[in-house]
Amino acid sequence: MGYVKNRFKEVADQLAAEIKTLLQEHGETSLGEVTLAQAYQGARGIPALVTETSLLDSNEGIRFRGYSIPELREKLPKVDGGIEPTPEGLFYLLLTGDMPTDEDAGHISTTWARRSHVPNHVFEVIEALPVTTHPMTQFCAAILALQTESKFAKAYADGISKKEYWDYTYEDAMTLIARLPRVAAYIYRRKYKDGKHIQPDGMLDWSANFAHMMGFDDNQFKELMRLYLTIHSDHEGGNVSAHATHLVGSALSDPYLSFCAGMTGLAGPLHGLANQEVIRWIEELQANLGTQEPTKEQIAEYIKKTLSEGKVVPGYGHAVLRKTDPRFVAQMEFAKKHCPDDATVKTVWNVYEVAPPILESTGKIKNPWPNVDAHSGALLKHYGLLEEDFYTVLFGVSRALGVLASLCWDRALGFPIERPKSFTTEWAKAQVAKAGKATA
Ligand SMILES: CC(C)(COP(=O)(O)OP(=O)(O)OC[C@H]1O[C@@H](n2cnc3c(N)ncnc32)[C@H](O)[C@@H]1OP(=O)(O)O)[C@@H](O)C(=O)NCCC(=O)NCCS
Repeated sequence: MGYVKNRFKEVADQLAAEIKTLLQEHGETSLGEVTLAQAYQGARGIPALVTETSLLDSNEGIRFRGYSIPELREKLPKVDGGIEPTPEGLFYLLLTGDMPTDEDAGHISTTWARRSHVPNHVFEVIEALPVTTHPMTQFCAAILALQTESKFAKAYADGISKKEYWDYTYEDAMTLIARLPRVAAYIYRRKYKDGKHIQPDGMLDWSANFAHMMGFDDNQFKELMRLYLTIHSDHEGGNVSAHATHLVGSALSDPYLSFCAGMTGLAGPLHGLANQEVIRWIEELQANLGTQEPTKEQIAEYIKKTLSEGKVVPGYGHAVLRKTDPRFVAQMEFAKKHCPDDATVKTVWNVYEVAPPILESTGKIKNPWPNVDAHSGALLKHYGLLEEDFYTVLFGVSRALGVLASLCWDRALGFPIERPKSFTTEWAKAQVAKAGKATA
């Protein structure tokens, strides 16, 4: 067994024992009540999922294993000469809870490079789809095609013990993550670059190789990819992509099937597809006003127009966050350093100044602040990654790190099939009537 896998097993066994004791001694502790409003309105705030890899505070934002994004940017290993963290190091942290050394991150990088070969039939599945197919649909189809490689599915069919589920889940997670950049870059070159594909470079780290296979060899873009793929990886367990992966995995569907479920959720415009929607909205704004840098007054009018048409202002609002998303701030810092004069970047910053008070004045939007998707498109455009339909695929490659590390934990902790209780409105009315009688 590799040493990362050994370390994971060690910490997982320890936590499994702690959870056992916790449940024996405090299993009846109440975490709060569930109101009718919560049940009807997207289960907001109901603490019903355990996710070890990260925790979201509505005011402070995300912490990955206790570390904020600024702390991660400082402490996670970097490539030689780089200043942004590597996703390899982040994955090690999510999986084991330990801050990795350079050697640990390097070990993950080498393992992924070694496992990155994508079987031919996956490319054939992609090629069977019309080239006009949305990149997220091609991505999901390719993930399903990769499922033929699942060690978990094979081992389950062979009849393994429950105690071994975590092992095959880990193996599938590592192989799937290793292969995603090649698949994503293939979709990119097929759709936008006349199918002129670029072979992987085994000497590069995961992010740089991904950038290279898409056709970007600029070092600053590679740094952006390292940052991007790190900060989009995880946002605790209740968001659609994380929850869907966890839910489908709870049926012991293998990691490929589970991750594909997460990706079909990420493809929704209220979730990951928002990064595509944001930049489209900004470009429409620029085109409508005939300028790359509209004034704040013009932006304010455009936001009001969007709201009056019954549409959402993409990139703003969040189901949990109530302040500016630190993932937005990290990207803004990157842009301030590398491209402060870019007109679209400046427009993103002007929207940030203008939008919150307008959104707040509606009296119904709970979070008027920008989320992760409000900034990413402007940065990608700056470096020449112009095809916004592809942006959610980048998000998906990153999200694999968080949801697959969590899936390893789900199996290592022996979590059961997920099956919350549902009810009809008739049943709800009866509960309300009963409660009314009790208080009368
Ligand atoms: C993220 C999002 C789905 C969260 O939804 P939520 O938890 O239901 O948000 P709220 O409780 O604040 O919603 C209350 C109302 O404000 C609206 N609202 C929320 N954010 C809005 C926005 N950015 N623009 C316009 N209206 C918005 C909701 O649609 C809802 O309207 P309704 O009562 O008419 O149905 C929502 O803010 C949104 O649609 N944002 C834009 C899309 C986006 O950026 N998604 C990426 C999220 S990381």
